[in-house]
Amino acid sequence: MNEENNSQPPGRTPTTRTMAMPADTNPSGDVFGGWVLSQMDIAAGICAGQRSQSRVVTAAIDGMHFYRPVHVGDILGVYTTITRIGRSSMDILIEAWVRRDRIGIREKVTDATFTFVAVDDNGKSIPIPPKDQVPQYVKDKFGDL
Ligand SMILES: CC(C)(COP(=O)(O)OP(=O)(O)OC[C@H]1O[C@@H](n2cnc3c(N)ncnc32)[C@H](O)[C@@H]1OP(=O)(O)O)[C@@H](O)C(=O)NCCC(=O)NCCS
Repeated sequence: MNEENNSQPPGRTPTTRTMAMPADTNPSGDVFGGWVLSQMDIAAGICAGQRSQSRVVTAAIDGMHFYRPVHVGDILGVYTTITRIGRSSMDILIEAWVRRDRIGIREKVTDATFTFVAVDDNGKSIPIPPKDQVPQYVKDKFGDL
């Protein structure tokens, strides 16, 4: 078993939670990696948008690892941690964990670093505000950055 796969809570900000459904599978009945990636992108986008208080776009996805499969009926929880803030870009560590068949063991299934860029209505990059200029709920959720 990969050492990343244990039942310890991840200790990150829980950002989304959903259940893998039959419609998310390929013809063999396995959940698509693309579906999991999509859930991670959604969670990263929520985190990035709240931190920047603006529209955001995905600029890059680095180091995507699939440690364990996701099955229909698993609850997928996606956890976000901001690891770097630049002028307009930010890196967000995304970890996806499952609770097997709703009530079973908890396992980490994937992780990756997403780079998001804050943009205006025309898609042009804009500065991310300093932490002291964002609402308290953002400070509470996303740590020191
Ligand atoms: C992301 C995007 C706005 C950057 O445009 P750009 O003209 O390079 O913008 P800038 O030169 O002002 O750079 C903005 C920031 O993005 C970062 N950046 C640009 N391309 C990047 C990449 N491929 N990977 C990581 N960071 C990137 C820059 O380093 C810069 O960071 P900083 O402001 O923190 O220093 C543009 O490439 C874009 O719109 N891409 C498509 C996004 C999209 O549609 N995503 C969904 C795909 S399905």
